[in-house]
Amino acid sequence: MQTQTDWESAYQRRETPWEKGRPHPALIDFLAENGPLTGEVFVPGCGSGHDVRALSDSGNHVVGIDLAPFAIAKANSFPKVAQEEYRLADLFALPAEYAQRFDWVFEHTCFCAIDPARRQDYVETIVRLLKAGGHLLSIFFLNPDHDEDGPPHGVTRKELAKFFGERFALEREWVPARTHAGREGRELFRILELIPPPPHNPA
Ligand SMILES: C[S@@+](CC[C@H](N)C(=O)[O-])C[C@H]1O[C@@H](n2cnc3c(N)ncnc32)[C@H](O)[C@@H]1O
Repeated sequence: MQTQTDWESAYQRRETPWEKGRPHPALIDFLAENGPLTGEVFVPGCGSGHDVRALSDSGNHVVGIDLAPFAIAKANSFPKVAQEEYRLADLFALPAEYAQRFDWVFEHTCFCAIDPARRQDYVETIVRLLKAGGHLLSIFFLNPDHDEDGPPHGVTRKELAKFFGERFALEREWVPARTHAGREGRELFRILELIPPPPHNPA
């Protein structure tokens, strides 16, 4: 039985094993190879914002959200790279003005942090955030270490296909060559494109 995770008190107790003090190395590699993302970019569960700052560039606007005030305060304490901003918000109760506003969503250790019972809500939220043809750039942690019930919660390729397959087309997928120590071979980097909903066929 999943209990509500108190993210704020984890930050206050400095019990934050996910906090690596730098962006995900595979995100750095991706941006070095492909150039910066352009347009509006959304980062759910951004923590202290290392990935947000790596993504931020003069040609985009990155919004990182997190429900822990401590994380948002820490994120705001770093010097600005460009126009990035951080918002205190629950991914599952976002302001209406975020609907269809984003060209990109970057997922890294938010999907594995939420209650697995909310995965469909997660997918529906990302679908709502993206513009038509927008992309989900994602690093999924397949088999994280966890205590008892987690978080973090692992996910299989089959489950990813089940949750994302109906509304996203998989453009590319690879196992990151570089990652944080201890995560080697345990993650999937995926680029998914939002596709229109299947036609409704009333019986
Ligand atoms: C495992 S941490 C990862 C943080 C960051 N992505 C990183 O890698 O450093 C998960 C983050 O998601 C946040 N979080 C969990 N549930 C959330 C929700 N419903 N809405 C927004 N943030 C959430 C937590 O506060 C925490 O900062």
